[in-house]
Amino acid sequence: MSATAKKRAPMPDDIRAAKGGTPLVSLTAYTTPMAQMMDDHCDFVLVGDSVGMVLHGLPSTLGVTMDMMVMHGQAVARGLSRAMMVIDMPFGSYEESPEQAFRNGARLMAETGAAAVKLEGGVEMAPTIAFLVKRGIPVMAHIGLTPQSINTLGGYKVQGRGDARGALIADAEAVAEAGAFAVVLEKVPQGLADEITAQVAIPTIGIGASAGCDGQILVVDDMLGLFTAFKAKFVKRYAHLGEDGAAAIAAYAEEVRARTFPASEHVFADEAPK
Ligand code: KIV
Repeated sequence: MSATAKKRAPMPDDIRAAKGGTPLVSLTAYTTPMAQMMDDHCDFVLVGDSVGMVLHGLPSTLGVTMDMMVMHGQAVARGLSRAMMVIDMPFGSYEESPEQAFRNGARLMAETGAAAVKLEGGVEMAPTIAFLVKRGIPVMAHIGLTPQSINTLGGYKVQGRGDARGALIADAEAVAEAGAFAVVLEKVPQGLADEITAQVAIPTIGIGASAGCDGQILVVDDMLGLFTAFKAKFVKRYAHLGEDGAAAIAAYAEEVRARTFPASEHVFADEAPK
């Protein structure tokens, strides 16, 4: 799917139909200006619950609330006209029952205008995915490293190695059969990601997985070098905005303290009494 040839934002079915074609491009976004920057270049934009870590300074995604997702979803929606918007269901908003997932998924879609929700989990979440899809909520699944389960996974480790390989393939098949229109594969070995991509009928969206996936997603603050608390090995920084921003702030502070702040000559001179 070419971003320049698009006339309208794709729908979940368009994303599903992109399986095996030109790789799908996606980034996370949490604010209007960021969404505007990526609108022409992304097939879909994810309002990720990574917002908790990259914008709110939380230690993990577990503290992210429905209200936070709604607020950031509304901000992102104001910046998009060409890319589809997907929004994450935060921890605790869908795991209890399909009914709970429907209630919260419907709220996220109604209050933000998102075209779909994303939720974490494989075989265990398949009945919930089927329940949502049958009731009008398109679902993007997320398997492999699922950050909301960090306390049971024991860290941000590569998933699907050794004995866990079969279980991950079963997760991918289960979410596809349940009706998910795409599946995110996070931190999955390349060979396994390629095997899943070949095996399942829906697009795989890689993050630290394989260039052979049907699409890729990155956390925008990671690829722009804005989030510097830590960097996963798979993240390529395309810019260093964190460092550049810190240097710009330091230069500004120096100019203010030295009374060489350039605006003063122009602004204050014009306003001086004649
Ligand atoms: O919340 C997020 O940013 C995500 C991506 C890492 C896929 O789920």
